[in-house]
Amino acid sequence: MSDTDLLRLRNITKRFGAIEALKGIDFAMKRGEVIALLGDNGAGKSTLVKIISGGQPPTSGTLEFEGVERTFTSPSEAKKAGIETVYQDLSLCTNVDVVANFFMGRELTRKVFGIPILREKAMYDETQKAMRNAGTRIPSLRVNVEHLSGGQRQAIELSRFVHWGGKLVLLDEPFAALGVEQTRRGLETIRRVAAEGIGVIVITHIMAQAFQVADRIVVIRQGRVAGDVRTEDTRPEEVIKMITGEIERERAS
Ligand SMILES: Nc1ncnc2c1ncn2[C@@H]1O[C@H](COP(=O)(O)OP(=O)(O)OP(=O)(O)O)[C@@H](O)[C@H]1O
Ligand SMILES: [Mg+2]
Repeated sequence: MSDTDLLRLRNITKRFGAIEALKGIDFAMKRGEVIALLGDNGAGKSTLVKIISGGQPPTSGTLEFEGVERTFTSPSEAKKAGIETVYQDLSLCTNVDVVANFFMGRELTRKVFGIPILREKAMYDETQKAMRNAGTRIPSLRVNVEHLSGGQRQAIELSRFVHWGGKLVLLDEPFAALGVEQTRRGLETIRRVAAEGIGVIVITHIMAQAFQVADRIVVIRQGRVAGDVRTEDTRPEEVIKMITGEIERERAS
């Protein structure tokens, strides 16, 4: 089981009317692997990520998750299987504190005279432990999320994902709005998440980030996989040529 692919896509296509956004994507990844998805604007990266996380169905092709062919018809269905897209702050409730967000929909209770009472202390301790494990530094778990930065919110979402048994996390340009230090911590969090055996797919336009965090770089160009290489076997100049199509032109000539 352990060497089964976590995710395998076979010949995935996606058509929006006359536009063929994806023209036959084949791709596989293992547990604990970090994939950086690169490509020019409109290449098809977000479309691919949405197909994997149940946000939209492919026009054709198959998706296997943990060796089983699956069709996710909604993000919540994918989430049940352990696949989730983490957006910077969309899925947190800003008017309650970190602990409440961590346990959203999964609150711990005990019954006193038949009335369910929240187990505040237990939830606080468990949140604190999970945050520490993920290396997430939040000034106070009792602060409402509205007062936290984008990077801190992202870190909370990632720790929550790991804690509740997530298996594959997708991030679409997670660092676009973050400063240098927050981005560095975000990249560290991704490596920690992967070390727990979780698969990570991260879309980024920033080459340095891809090289810093990814085990493999996958380039999408005009709806096709234009490159799929181990980070240690390539260089930024080569990846740029994959993105622009120069590599294909060199091979053709
Ligand atoms: N819902 C939609 N309806 C029609 N066309 C769409 C839709 N979603 C995406 N497309 C088209 O599919 C192609 C791929 O778009 P996608 O958003 O996947 O690109 P991307 O690689 O994420 O680009 P970017 O780097 O700019 O985010 C584009 O031509 C886009 O216009
Ligand atoms: Mg996109």
